Amino acid sequence: MKIAIPKERRDGEARVAASPDTVKKLLDLPLDSVEVAVETGAGSAASIPDEAFEKAGAKIAKDYAATVKDADVVLKVRRPLLPDEGGTDELKPMKKGCKLIALLDPWQSSAAIAAYANAGIDAFSMEFMPRITRAQAMDVLSSQANLAGYRVVIDAGHHFKRAFPMMMTAAGTIPPAKVLVMGAGVAGLQAIATAKRMGAAVSATDVRPAAKEQVESLGGKFVAVEDEEFKEAESAGGYAKEMSDAYKKKQADLIAETVPKMDIVITTALIPGRPAPKLMTADMVKSMKPGSVIVDMAVTQGGNVELSELDKVVEVNDVTVIGYANWPARLPVSASSLYARNLLSFLQLMVDKEAKSLKVNLEDAIIKGTCLTYEGKVVHPDVQESAKATSADVQESSKAAAGDTGKED
Ligand code: NAI
Repeated sequence: MKIAIPKERRDGEARVAASPDTVKKLLDLPLDSVEVAVETGAGSAASIPDEAFEKAGAKIAKDYAATVKDADVVLKVRRPLLPDEGGTDELKPMKKGCKLIALLDPWQSSAAIAAYANAGIDAFSMEFMPRITRAQAMDVLSSQANLAGYRVVIDAGHHFKRAFPMMMTAAGTIPPAKVLVMGAGVAGLQAIATAKRMGAAVSATDVRPAAKEQVESLGGKFVAVEDEEFKEAESAGGYAKEMSDAYKKKQADLIAETVPKMDIVITTALIPGRPAPKLMTADMVKSMKPGSVIVDMAVTQGGNVELSELDKVVEVNDVTVIGYANWPARLPVSASSLYARNLLSFLQLMVDKEAKSLKVNLEDAIIKGTCLTYEGKVVHPDVQESAKATSADVQESSKAAAGDTGKED
């Protein structure tokens, strides 16, 4: 049984899908002759040298192809590069039946999902982890968002030209920084806690009623339009629902009033599978005091802030707008360690101890909830339609390229 951990090749990705600690545990899984192959340099951006993996029992493979060759399981952080994305084709060297476990970006990669099915790869998307108690140890969105929420405050502080805590000194008093966190989910709550620990006066807003108590328990002030719609805004999975236009207007008015009083605004608002809600207009950005800082953590989903730019730090009227795309990769050591543990817990679910082999039990809510493709078919209902349409498009265009119009002569 070969488990492969390749080096991540996407721009800016510094994480790795295993740690020396998880390599040891992978080797101890009750499977027939387990072997763990780690690509050389896979951990270097996360400060894990090849020797540390080797000491834990991994074999170091010289390149991508050698790492994933004949692997039964490929553990990755980001989805494999396809030929049209340039660089190494990361899918082709994987063998049929290989279990691919990663952040597969399922909402935005229907062509890739169709490609996994065509290649006979059984793909599991960690973003689809059900939010049930049994899955908490495998919840990569939480483990990564929690670290991201911490790091975002550190980066905001780096760009902020003033201090966070109130300081009463013989030379005078410095007021505390006023921080507003929009979206009090996992990342937002950690941002609130971190800013609070650093001495800021923190307010937060969310559309889910459950967030109010959580914000207040961290010492934050809750700011939101608490009408009837707000009381029903949480889905069964704990996620936010898309709000009505009327609610959005009321929310925008409240935010427009609140923002000019703030020094730092951190936005984290997301709705799974939908573009991020626009919470700050260009005028709101410009309404902030000189020297203020905005961080838009939703930038990869279209952004919460009108003037944020993907992976850039921009200045607008002396307001700094930070739009980094990959926050967990800004603390790759911690993020890799937790991510690796999440994947290990997930893989343990697939181990059949008696048979000493892997078993995909599609009756299990966690396996079923995350499985995108199985035995050559797209099986996840949330992506089936889009992957089917993409697959048909691909087949049409390759037929057209081959001069086959489908018409009979
Ligand atoms: P997320 O990353 O999808 O969204 C971030 C936050 O943005 C959410 O709190 C959401 O309500 C908020 N939001 C959406 N639209 C907004 C708007 N227009 N204005 C302001 N805020 C808006 O959510 P995340 O962080 O993944 O988790 C959400 C909740 O899920 C958690 O707070 C928790 O209650 C629950 N959860 C449950 C777990 C479990 O195992 N049972 C594990 C992790 C989270």
